[in-house]
Amino acid sequence: MEVVHTIPELRAAVARARQAGKSVGFVPTMGCLHEGHLSLIRRAKQEAAYVVVSIFVNPTQFGPNEDFAKYPRTFEDDRRGSELAGADLVFAPAATDFYPAGASTWVEVEGVSAGLCGEFRPGHFRGVATVVAMLFNAVQADVAVFGRKDLQQLAVIRRMARDLRFPVRILAHETVREPNGVAMSSRNRYLSAEQLAQAAAIPAAMAAARAMARTGVTDAARLRSAAQAVLAAQPALKPQYCEIVDLATMAPVASTAGNSCAIAIACHLGATRLIDNADL
Ligand code: PAF
Repeated sequence: MEVVHTIPELRAAVARARQAGKSVGFVPTMGCLHEGHLSLIRRAKQEAAYVVVSIFVNPTQFGPNEDFAKYPRTFEDDRRGSELAGADLVFAPAATDFYPAGASTWVEVEGVSAGLCGEFRPGHFRGVATVVAMLFNAVQADVAVFGRKDLQQLAVIRRMARDLRFPVRILAHETVREPNGVAMSSRNRYLSAEQLAQAAAIPAAMAAARAMARTGVTDAARLRSAAQAVLAAQPALKPQYCEIVDLATMAPVASTAGNSCAIAIACHLGATRLIDNADL
């Protein structure tokens, strides 16, 4: 596996793979790779002969009071994990290199980025869409794999790729979970063992809504209440949102009847913010 730091090196390596007749898969990450990321890389390797993993903690998707400075940087582990999972190339641009000095161009995906996390993290999806557009442009992959845990991010990227006509297939990969059901996240390392146990109320809340949906309930207010009751029983969790949304638009629905819907939850647990979602 090769590691490169600049766009010309990346382009040259991908061109060599193309010349060898290989299809190209791409997994964008911010590093601090866990089993969830590794499963994205393995999936990309099933879909494409040559897999690029980017590792870049993107400053523009963090708000002024968020954890950019303390976001864990674990490059050596990430390099090793990527290689073991089957990556062929790691692209790790230097923070000061990737955005040109004075960059003032943004990719703003309206609609799908408005509610949920978009409401509580102003500018977040603009930063995500901009960096992913830059990365798509740099890598020129046939297929890119994203985790389903970041459901709204996935919807934003799908819309962006469609609207800007990026010739890349976007694949969603299932969320990988801790043994107690908590979705894997780089931010889980901020949690104590006690907090990780408390966080299990989030998948339990989703399971309550799903169980109710399976009995035929389609009223979103009732499904939400079932989930909210489980969250409320764990006082350490401070819910930010708990919504039943349409999967394509990310807009809250009044009823799940006739729609492909998911329950999406964000909670604070101490200083850590956790998100998760499940199909209904
Ligand atoms: O999901 C992430 O890790 C990031 O938002 C992404 C897609 C790599 C863009 O920085």
